[in-house]
Amino acid sequence: MLDSLYAEHLLVQRQRLDLALADCGYDSLAIYAGEPHVQFLDDQPYPFKPNPHFKLWVPTADVAGSWLLYRPSGKPQLLFLQPLDFWHKPPSTPREFWTRHFDITVLRAASDAEAHVRNLPRCAFIGEWNDRFETYDLADRNPANLLTQLHYWRAFKTKYEIECMRRACARAVKGHRAAEAAFRDGASEYQIHLAYLHACEHIDEELPYPSIVALNENAAILHYQHRERTSPRVRRSFLIDAGADFGGYGSDITRTYAHRNDDFAALIERMDELQQQLCQEVRSGTEYVDLHLNAHRLIADLLREAGIISLGAEEAVDSGISSVFFPHGIGHLLGLQVHDVGGFSIDTNGARRESPPAHPYLRLTRTLAPGFVVTIEPGIYFIESLLEKARSSNARKHINWNAVEHFKPYGGIRIEDDVVCTDGEPENLTRDAFART
Ligand code: GLY
Ligand code: MN
Ligand code: MN
Repeated sequence: MLDSLYAEHLLVQRQRLDLALADCGYDSLAIYAGEPHVQFLDDQPYPFKPNPHFKLWVPTADVAGSWLLYRPSGKPQLLFLQPLDFWHKPPSTPREFWTRHFDITVLRAASDAEAHVRNLPRCAFIGEWNDRFETYDLADRNPANLLTQLHYWRAFKTKYEIECMRRACARAVKGHRAAEAAFRDGASEYQIHLAYLHACEHIDEELPYPSIVALNENAAILHYQHRERTSPRVRRSFLIDAGADFGGYGSDITRTYAHRNDDFAALIERMDELQQQLCQEVRSGTEYVDLHLNAHRLIADLLREAGIISLGAEEAVDSGISSVFFPHGIGHLLGLQVHDVGGFSIDTNGARRESPPAHPYLRLTRTLAPGFVVTIEPGIYFIESLLEKARSSNARKHINWNAVEHFKPYGGIRIEDDVVCTDGEPENLTRDAFART
């Protein structure tokens, strides 16, 4: 199945690239996969992550030092670096469903790329630059007009890309199930993290982003990065934001659990309903900014219903009180990068729509269209630094501080799904995966 979808995907990428190259005045393109970076005063590399432009075409990870050379006619050429190296195991020459679409040339040394790249007519370069390439006769490095066009089109996913994300969700959901079980068993953040990785069959560096595994008040830290090795004495809540990879595409999923059937559990349940209501708004023609603002109104309603604030929804949003509890965007584009590119591009010429000034962390301002894959991730958090600011402002009198103190030890709630915009009903990749797992 992936085979035929990939063939279609490649045709679409070729069409987009041919138009963009012609428009920008190039006859060919060289995409460099990148290479490992060595740590300061050391000989040890950081984990290698391929250039997303390279991943769009070549769905395999072991590609450090490889190149993709493209001309509008003929097969794209993959210069696959397989160094003669007795220290490491060189990557095996790929023989998979996608390889028949490429002319694959195995390079034994990185410098062997030069002869191939120099052959290309008026060639643009996309990738991390290295001064070694000075002699490669490349026309321009990462030209902005070319990147703008390609990034704009990246939002419209092919069926192949959506299938990859479907599988990335299925993989992550195995981890989420294992993580919840570990939480119920009394595991520490560290142990839950390992249970997640094991169930997904991932190692850390393969994840699309570092997992957020937070118990109790740590759930209030939006990108909480520690993994406490010991279990807390009292368990109240668990927030896990973790994805998985398939073919270079990521999933991005958050779930929050209560330890007991208490009022925090009720708040999670209400947030879950609200989140599914928002997922239903992922439809062709919807302004994502409107979806974000509607999320604020619904969250404000929920805060009032839970006795945390005393203002009506419109006032709570206009006065910024909803942002005290929900300070991030409702979501973002998802794909080869967890926060996928092109979120502000409204055309191929570089026009942008910025996020509203009161909502600076919103990463997507486009009108939704079929093929867009977005996350929907509303949340409520009890973040001391934001609460502290609210305490010394006019907002103070609209917030029930006893309720805030009551919920603070739980940290917060986020529920996040990956949703495909179609011609009709949205497809919720995450809920479908949970239903099957
Ligand atoms: N996991 C990062 C995010 O949800 O955007
Ligand atoms: Mn996200
Ligand atoms: Mn997330």
